[in-house]
Amino acid sequence: MKVIICENYDELSLKAFEVIKELVTSKPDCVLGLATGSSPVGLYKNMIKDHKENGTSYKDVKSYNLDEYVGIDRNDPQSYYTFMKENLFDGIDIDPANTHVPYGSTAEDCAAYEKELEKVSVDLQLLGIGQNGHIGFNEPGTPFDILTHIVDLTENTRQANARFFDDDINKVPTQAISMGIGTIMKAKKVLLVANGENKADAVKAMIEGPVDTACAASALQNHPDVTVVIDKAAASKLS
Ligand code: F6R
Repeated sequence: MKVIICENYDELSLKAFEVIKELVTSKPDCVLGLATGSSPVGLYKNMIKDHKENGTSYKDVKSYNLDEYVGIDRNDPQSYYTFMKENLFDGIDIDPANTHVPYGSTAEDCAAYEKELEKVSVDLQLLGIGQNGHIGFNEPGTPFDILTHIVDLTENTRQANARFFDDDINKVPTQAISMGIGTIMKAKKVLLVANGENKADAVKAMIEGPVDTACAASALQNHPDVTVVIDKAAASKLS
């Protein structure tokens, strides 16, 4: 694992952007695995700014998102599909037909998304990390070889995401469709971004802890090409 510790969120967002720009410039038809949440928002802003100012093009890029809530309409303001449109897709020239966000609630929906992913090969998978070490919505205890699946969200994750639902945990969906750890591990390269002190324990477990399903992100220790870009606060518990 390559670990880059940044002064603050702005620097982290710039460093992560440089990794994406390098890939998109050298391989204009690359396949990006994308994430939602607050961690990548600064990186997405940099991609939009660079597209507008320097013309970096995403017209041949394909994207596949990690996850989506179950039971929420695609066009609901809280859907991850809407999040991606608002925070990235509408600001760059990616072809909407080339963007993919999983959707559905059945084993068939999961198998269909996994099949889509098998047809392409993800060049870079972007990840955030949950306070409990989840990647995608792979919560503690998830087997490392699992593929796209339906997840029962933990209380911890629903609480963390209540900020997007009027701070009301009861409004947070109870399930999600998510790439599995096995799906994520197939990406050629992984780029994980994390900031803030509330991520420090998860970051430590991911990098320095045992490779154990208790911390889903610790599986990444077994991936050959992982870059972790974190701020000082998220790195504060590393030895
Ligand atoms: C998002 C995702 C989640 C988040 C994680 C961190 O698509 O799969 O694993 O990356 O929950 O979320 P933030 O960045 O909001 O702290």
